Amino acid sequence: MDRIRISGGRRLEGFIPISGAKNAALPLMIASLLTSETMTLHNVPRLSDVRLLMRILGNHGVDAAISGKRIGQSDESGETITLSARDIVDTTAPYELVSRMRASFWVVAPLLARMGEARVSLPGGCAIGTRPVDLLLMALEKLGASIEIDSGYVIAKAPKGLRGGLIDFPKVTVGGTHVALMAASLAHGTTEIHNAAREPEVADLAECLIKMGARIEGIGTSRIVIEGVSRLGGAHHHVLPDRIETGTYAMAVAMTGGDVMLGGARSDLLQSALGVLQQAGVEVLTSDLGIRIRRNGNGLMPVDIETQPFPGFPTDLQAQFMALMTRADGNSRIHETIFENRFMHVQELARLGAKIRLDGDVAYVEGRTRLTGAPVMATDLRASVSLVIAALAAEGETLVNRVYHLDRGFEALEKKLFRCGADIERLSGER
Ligand code: UD1
Repeated sequence: MDRIRISGGRRLEGFIPISGAKNAALPLMIASLLTSETMTLHNVPRLSDVRLLMRILGNHGVDAAISGKRIGQSDESGETITLSARDIVDTTAPYELVSRMRASFWVVAPLLARMGEARVSLPGGCAIGTRPVDLLLMALEKLGASIEIDSGYVIAKAPKGLRGGLIDFPKVTVGGTHVALMAASLAHGTTEIHNAAREPEVADLAECLIKMGARIEGIGTSRIVIEGVSRLGGAHHHVLPDRIETGTYAMAVAMTGGDVMLGGARSDLLQSALGVLQQAGVEVLTSDLGIRIRRNGNGLMPVDIETQPFPGFPTDLQAQFMALMTRADGNSRIHETIFENRFMHVQELARLGAKIRLDGDVAYVEGRTRLTGAPVMATDLRASVSLVIAALAAEGETLVNRVYHLDRGFEALEKKLFRCGADIERLSGER
């Protein structure tokens, strides 16, 4: 099992290319099930979650191919993936595959919309709270599907096809909105989604669906209207840059000090997090090239945050920000409002010397903490990268175990940081 070794204390200087967004690539790949024509996705990140989803889609009959690297392309240029679901050979998504990645549950929507039935195992994925799928199933029921749960499987049926309806989410759900968008695109009649997620990855999916022939209005707002069509076609689509990867490296630079250009990053995708970094005293400069993050010498101010659906501060940057706040010139308060139990990084950060007190869904972070290297364990995707960030600023050596969590969501993490001067390496195959 690979580990990552980090010796802290180096400033980060240079250029980090930002990859395509994992959370956009996954639903876009799943949307390929909606059409018998070929879908071509550019700028897809090289991640284990992407590879796993290709296997899952392959199980349903999707032919997937990755095009070779073009001349002059660096390792970090995203891949081009073509997906062709000419014939769906199986409408079952088995437990062995779905339990390894929660987002793969979303195949329920295109399978149901196109084939009239789907049998999909209840999901697994990151261990951050209960993460139910009741709202996703509610959305499908509003579109006329019958839903049964049997032996851990959701059996969704709509033999005569789905029909448009009103889906009013009581809570903002990204996955629920993806599912509703895909299903409604092939339903008979009009669907309205109220309280839709406004995350940029939802907009990216909607834009791709439009290229495939879907009729969608209200993209990027909380009220989306979809006029169903009888068939969708192929499309070419470029995956948008990863705002969570962007924010993560921005926090790494804020943590160590230094000056890094995050190439290809888009500030409109993470205004809230960038604003928080500016409040903390970090310089943020945006240009056509990307976002430049700079902190030279000056201390970090403590900032209180609360995670919120987009455009608020993303829950996927909460752990990283907590690591950063251990070095602020004062105490801060972090309120997690999206997921219960998303504080598993706290005890691992404590191994590096962090002083964080939990009270329900609020974490109180003591600033001015001296961090020191230690062996730590990655627990979930975002939690594990917070340990990397903390280790970059800690005195001495940190070994991060279970880095397969990182490989799910961060492309070439150690290479990107190494090229900016971090003392970081991957130790292969050791326990
Ligand atoms: C997606 C992201 C994840 C991010 C999260 C919130 C992907 C692959 N994952 O996850 O990185 O942290 O959005 O921005 O894009 N909920 C229910 N019932 C449901 C569905 C959700 O109660 O049926 C609750 C969840 O428990 C959570 C909240 O709604 O409290 C938001 O979850 P949701 O937006 O659905 O997260 P995901 O789509 O799973």
